[in-house]
Amino acid sequence: MENFSFKNPTDIRFGKDRIDSELRDVITSFGGNVLLVYGGQSVKRSGLYDRVLKALDGLNITELPGIEPNPKIDSVRKGQQLVKDNNIDVILAVGGGSVIDASKVIGSARYYEGDPWDLVLDSGKRMALKQLPLVDILTLSATGSEMNRGSVISNPETHQKFGTGGPNTPAVSFLDPSLTFTVPTRQTAAGSMDIMSHLIEQYFDRSINNDVSKGLIEGLMRSVIKWAPVAIKEPDNYDARANLMWNATMALNGIVGLGDVNNWTVHPMEHELSAYYDITHGVGLGILTPRWLKAVQKDSSTHELLARFAKNVWGITVSDENEAGSEAIKQTYDWISSLGFEMTLPEVGIKDETNFDAMAESAVTTGDLSRNGYIKLTPDDVKAIYRDSM
Ligand code: NZQ
Ligand code: ZN
Repeated sequence: MENFSFKNPTDIRFGKDRIDSELRDVITSFGGNVLLVYGGQSVKRSGLYDRVLKALDGLNITELPGIEPNPKIDSVRKGQQLVKDNNIDVILAVGGGSVIDASKVIGSARYYEGDPWDLVLDSGKRMALKQLPLVDILTLSATGSEMNRGSVISNPETHQKFGTGGPNTPAVSFLDPSLTFTVPTRQTAAGSMDIMSHLIEQYFDRSINNDVSKGLIEGLMRSVIKWAPVAIKEPDNYDARANLMWNATMALNGIVGLGDVNNWTVHPMEHELSAYYDITHGVGLGILTPRWLKAVQKDSSTHELLARFAKNVWGITVSDENEAGSEAIKQTYDWISSLGFEMTLPEVGIKDETNFDAMAESAVTTGDLSRNGYIKLTPDDVKAIYRDSM
């Protein structure tokens, strides 16, 4: 196992209805000037917006609505202006990963005089800045943003979608599974696929004998495989929503990837799809993941781990490692497909190869895939995976 350091101070408040009694104290511990950030209409339709305003009655609330899925840099620019103009003490993000991601970068942009896109391009700049405290109320189980330092921001003008890390995780995250009862089927599926992908990206890693991480991940994978279909069938099944929510947080709060050595692969390839075509992150991952696993299997040094994945995650008992790997890839594909979303690029509107060269080059550069992927991928290899997805 490799050396690692780990510190994650996010205060997690998991469970039903805690915002009504706890949100006010949490927010006022940081001050009375609050930037309330949210997305489209879902928080108003569900009644959550009214509950939040009631809990914060009497405080100075400035609102930043309209954070879009795959949050755009223009929203961060608006937020930067608002936090400066209103002397904001704390940001309250109410929504999914997009709202939380944008809020983190706004928290850094408070202390930056230039264009916040500079901060996305260079996380080093963010690490040198202070960041406003962030409290969030999570409404969708997917990204793990509620307990990590990452954000992913898009710039439609340049067709770029990049991850950026800041100095802090959210200060406090309210995780109330019942707030996800209203998440539509497609987003529940996409969020579950995102969780599964975070786990796969960290599992397929060349670290030696990192059995703690592998074992934790196998348990989390079995749980998302079990509960995602239940949440899709019964949207207000609390146990399903609770398991998915805590799974999403655990999959990407840093713990299960400790001691890993490789970069992620499918995420950089997917971020190119959403940068060029603005598709849903989890749907892109669902299309690419089984194709990437097929590419992985071509390298025989991966067969032992694929066979372990087959046995411990999918319960496949055939003794031939290569056969077990093939069966696991098939079962992974079938599970993704059973969640009900599109399984090819043309079905999500990517009908030709026009941008594949640029996308493949960028994915390899951003993810350092030709040097540090689990299997090393050149731009031609990435293009082959995009083509296999047509
Ligand atoms: O905008 P509203 O009306 O709120 O609707 C949202 C949005 O349309 C809806 N929604 C959220 N909660 C709901 C709900 N609808 C009904 N009821 C609720 N309770 O869901 C839609 C998608 O929301 P979004 O926040 O975009 O989804 P998600 O949480 O999947 O976030 C995706 C973004 O996170 C990035 C992705 O690339 C993408 O930009 N990621 C962030 C990561 C991180 N910070 O660590 C890692 C991930 O790998 C990922 O890249
Ligand atoms: Zn993801």
